[in-house]
Amino acid sequence: MRKLVIGILLFAVAFGYAQNKGRSSDLMPLPAAISYGDGAYVLKKDFSISIEGYKSDRLIKYSNRILRRIDNKTGIFFDQGILNKENVSGNGDAVVKVKRKGKLEVGEDESYSLSITEKGVVIDAETDFGAQYALETLYQLVDSREGKYVLPLISINDSPRFAWRGIMFDVARHFMPIGDLKRNIDLMASVKMNVFHWHLSDDQGFRVELDSHPIHKKGSDGNYYTKAQIRDIVKYAGDRGIRVIPEIDVPGHGTAILTVLPQIASKDTSYTLERNAGIFKPVLDPTNPLTYEVLDDVIREMTELFPDKYFHIGGDETEGEDWLSNPKITSFMKEKNIDNPHGLQAYFNVKLYDILKKYGKEMMGWEEIQSEYIPKSALIHSWRGVNEGMKAGESLEKAVKGGYRAILSNGFYIDLMLPAKSHYNTKFVADDSDLTDEQKNMILGGEATMWSELITPLTLDSRVWPRAAAIAEKFWSPKEKTKDTDDMYRRLDIASNRLEMIGSQHIRNQDVIIRNISNNTNTEAIKVLVDVCEPLKIYTRNPGGTMYKSYSPFTKFADACVADAKGAREFDEAVKSFISEKNEENIRKLKDIFAIWESNHSKVEKSLSASPILNEIEQKSRNLSKLGRIGFRLIEEDKIPVKDIDNALKLIDEMSREEGGRTELVVTKSMNLFIKSFLR
Ligand code: ACM
Repeated sequence: MRKLVIGILLFAVAFGYAQNKGRSSDLMPLPAAISYGDGAYVLKKDFSISIEGYKSDRLIKYSNRILRRIDNKTGIFFDQGILNKENVSGNGDAVVKVKRKGKLEVGEDESYSLSITEKGVVIDAETDFGAQYALETLYQLVDSREGKYVLPLISINDSPRFAWRGIMFDVARHFMPIGDLKRNIDLMASVKMNVFHWHLSDDQGFRVELDSHPIHKKGSDGNYYTKAQIRDIVKYAGDRGIRVIPEIDVPGHGTAILTVLPQIASKDTSYTLERNAGIFKPVLDPTNPLTYEVLDDVIREMTELFPDKYFHIGGDETEGEDWLSNPKITSFMKEKNIDNPHGLQAYFNVKLYDILKKYGKEMMGWEEIQSEYIPKSALIHSWRGVNEGMKAGESLEKAVKGGYRAILSNGFYIDLMLPAKSHYNTKFVADDSDLTDEQKNMILGGEATMWSELITPLTLDSRVWPRAAAIAEKFWSPKEKTKDTDDMYRRLDIASNRLEMIGSQHIRNQDVIIRNISNNTNTEAIKVLVDVCEPLKIYTRNPGGTMYKSYSPFTKFADACVADAKGAREFDEAVKSFISEKNEENIRKLKDIFAIWESNHSKVEKSLSASPILNEIEQKSRNLSKLGRIGFRLIEEDKIPVKDIDNALKLIDEMSREEGGRTELVVTKSMNLFIKSFLR
């Protein structure tokens, strides 16, 4: 009895006062250095924020948003109202000390320190951007303990691994309204990302209002951004420490431009907006002086809208077929001693480089722009890898070895619908790389790419979040802190709910689609199936790029599914535990899952008869029930004939290749392991 009392007392002490030590952090991205003290600072109604030193308007507003987020999380009615210059000047419980205004430039100081003691919070930062990040960290630290909302006693020193931490938003394939972009900008800032790369022009649309050549009129189906809207986004992002990089993709990917200006095309024909996905022939004519006059006008007007030093000219996937079949162009190439399309593209890029220089801009482009003629001040955007027949990291190495600064997107293609871990495990530099430190330092960072062939505003957030938070960590946190995939997933689940509270629609819009496809029937059974399926990966959802047009429905079963199916992850864990130890709890966990699966199809059937949009997943739903039955039998029965196990494995192999609803039943991999565990 005495032992028990002492035990309880020790437990209480440990819980009440010493529970910070040795704990793992829930933060995402993880800070560079973190140390926990014992105990916590209790948040009360009179908690307030003050700013010392440089009080920028944007930081006051940012601080206000964070305070309001904390009151939304905790339900505390803080006395401090909307923050303004006057009420942030006192002596707050959280003091934010800032030296100067942050500049929206690559490599600006974004570091901060954050200290929480019993007395309160002290934030120190060189720039207001560093202070913003400290406030984001502070928000993530809000926790509850013994019935109170608290901040753990902690000391953090933080600064980014990479200066360039971005997401590319493709608004050409599917237009994304301003509100959707602003929401995503807020989400980016919350995970310390600082580049919004705006892919504004492609075969399927040109989205910028222009006066000189109104390409946007015919080239956008009426969906474009006015100049006022663009200025608004640039300001909105800048107030959150985010630079905006515009991209006009030329000379390939140029169909939308050529719908309005066929006179600068390489083939004498008329053009209409592309509705399919893929690589298309329409290409601007590099031999035509008018091409450069047009691009000079476009760039001049756009540089008035986009203050950033960098301007992205695309340059990817230009195959030049229309160049080689045009005698005027081939004779120009002969005259200039240009051997091939890549050489002609280099000629084009040099002309563009000069135009950009005239307007004070630095060129940035996809890796194909690299050539001996492009000055080393250009920034190379590496994107190709094993899917394009190259080695991972090959083009990034080539860029920095060639003397260019570069950023990496290969490995961060979120539209491939791969799980977060595949991005998290991407290496900027291979372990056996022979890059010098100087060359490594020329890697400025990376960008996730949200190509939107199969993404609409309804599914935008569920394709970006929460996976982009894991990528943000890859870009921000020290390399050695981004190796534990299990811990990343643990924190990603926490981040996912937090992102939702900041505004992300990635969870709720999944339910919107499920409600639509259930046609007023029970949504729960469909959700069970959605939770164990993932959209077909690496562009196989859309064979030939033609199954889906840009105007096709993206409100189907696959659009409700996400890249890291949650039910499948839970099943993976349950199987792992079961294989490591067949105890009562692990057996029960699996039995519960199998029971739900087995009974699920009869529930889905009711929706099937009410909702023909679901016909495509009937087989998949049957398969899941079958898996439930097989699993149950294996656990229940002691001895299963090997022949039956073989048959089950064959069946599961077939199920893994079943593509109904353009999705994959992803529990088949763990089911295979589970069944094989009975062969031992
Ligand atoms: C690209 O993915 N074509 C840059």
